[in-house]
Amino acid sequence: MKALIICDSVFGNTEKVAQSIGAVLGPQGQVKTLLVGQVTMEQLRGLEVLIVGPPTRSFRPTPAISQFLKALPKNHLAGINVATFDTRIWLNTIDSAAFRFLVDKGGYAANTMAKALTRKGGNPIVPPEGFLVTGEQGPLKGGELERAAKWAGQMQLAK
Ligand SMILES: Cc1cc2nc3c(=O)[nH]c(=O)nc-3n(C[C@H](O)[C@H](O)[C@H](O)COP(=O)(O)O)c2cc1C
Repeated sequence: MKALIICDSVFGNTEKVAQSIGAVLGPQGQVKTLLVGQVTMEQLRGLEVLIVGPPTRSFRPTPAISQFLKALPKNHLAGINVATFDTRIWLNTIDSAAFRFLVDKGGYAANTMAKALTRKGGNPIVPPEGFLVTGEQGPLKGGELERAAKWAGQMQLAK
């Protein structure tokens, strides 16, 4: 299996999640985890699985990830299994009820990216997933790396 995990990360939390996913998929074949800035269109050639994961910032993926997705030519992901994740703030750590409501309703990167990848021809293999941080800069909530590994495990089953 040839898989590529493309992540973006400002404070390092999302990169840790990406590595946890990579560690699960690694033994199944040729699996690379790259920051979005390191990825070229050429690296998508011959892929069986593409996983994309940025932090959610202002309800969306980071600009670098959004630009990367936008730049993908039409149908470029045809025949490729795709999955998306993000990191996001744990709502329980937000004191203000109004802000909590806003963040909850605002939307998350994984969901919008899943639609974008499908529009480019990708075949979703697991539902989009969010992994929680306990403050703007992290750290990750306890158990999230394990949950990420489990999520990646579902992909193994789906393949
Ligand atoms: C400017 C900014 C905007 C953010 N917007 C959101 C948001 O809309 N929803 C959310 O759940 N978390 C939001 N967060 C929290 C980020 O998701 C958190 O910083 C990220 O998960 C950390 O991942 P990283 O260490 O890989 O950068 C925001 C954080 C920052 C700094």
